[in-house]
Amino acid sequence: MNVKLGKLALLSLVATGFLAGCTGEPEYLDQNWTEENQLRDKFYTTSQGSQLIPYEWFFALENAKSHKLISSHEEISLLGYLPDYAPDPLTNPDGLPVGFVKDEDPKTGDWLGVNCAACHTAQFVYNNRVVRIDGAPSMGDFIKLYRTVRNSLHATLADRNKFKRFARRLGLNASQSSKVRTEMRAIVKELNGTIERGVSKDHEPGYGRVDAFSGIRNEVFQHDLGIKENFRPSIAPVSYPFLWGTPDLQAVQWTGNADNPFGRNAGQVLGVLGRLDLKNPATLFESSIRRDNVFLMEQWVRELKAPKWPAHILGRIDQAAAQRGRA
Ligand code: HEC
Repeated sequence: MNVKLGKLALLSLVATGFLAGCTGEPEYLDQNWTEENQLRDKFYTTSQGSQLIPYEWFFALENAKSHKLISSHEEISLLGYLPDYAPDPLTNPDGLPVGFVKDEDPKTGDWLGVNCAACHTAQFVYNNRVVRIDGAPSMGDFIKLYRTVRNSLHATLADRNKFKRFARRLGLNASQSSKVRTEMRAIVKELNGTIERGVSKDHEPGYGRVDAFSGIRNEVFQHDLGIKENFRPSIAPVSYPFLWGTPDLQAVQWTGNADNPFGRNAGQVLGVLGRLDLKNPATLFESSIRRDNVFLMEQWVRELKAPKWPAHILGRIDQAAAQRGRA
């Protein structure tokens, strides 16, 4: 990691509260997602059809270099994502981090995936208070998440003791273990490809950025269609935008190139390990995109309001300065 990235990483960890030791319940600002309408819980936990690894593996895999579970609060914080330190047994029974969700696939079983909330939720710490902003730009490092999972799978396959611990946690017998190893190899291969398509050497996105468009385009036009020539290097990582107000825009994305929310969001699912096979005419219209859920999430974003300046946390606004600024 170079010095610049190192500093950014540190800033991210301070901002999310990890290094500040703030592991308490976050405070929320009034953004119209309330206890009553439960939109926050729904937004954090609804699957959009992203399938990273089989669900149970998430709780049994260790970091490649240690015995720490990749699902532990510490590991998740180091990736810049937001652990749930006090999960609600009803809405988040397995204590998943914000935006990490269970996808129940009728054909292939339960998967761990991510949804909008992983990339569009943030928090900051001020005077030891943790303040969560819904719809705000994530400080997560998405490529690091992929690499961490890939490295973990790789190490679990390579290290007999690591695999033993993994198998014990899941209660796998010998024949199940061998099946799992085959599946792991396939996912490592797939993740290697996804990482290669999503990042280029001199354009590491790091914390708080990702090259969403190149990643999605390469996943769909190169990988899913199976056309090598469609590859374009991912050289344009961008910050995550905030979501409030976006349903009122005529076109979205930094380049203003998307005017169809459903198309935009469906493409986004395919970019984060949604499943699709465009090479087989028989399954052309099948995919893991949870269309109804994606539609609902779009509706929930419609209800989300921009947060007001929290004077009770950050101090009162200097009105004279504000007036000068307004001019
Ligand atoms: C892997 C991270 C990731 C996930 C998951 C994700 N987004 Fe985004 N989103 C981004 C990035 C990055 C951009 C900006 C890309 C660009 O414009 O180049 C973006 C852009 C957007 C925009 C455009 C905002 C604007 O002002 O132009 C909207 C709206 C949006 N996302 C909504 C959603 C919704 C709804 C979901 C879930 C259904 C979702 N996103 C899931 C990363 C993500």
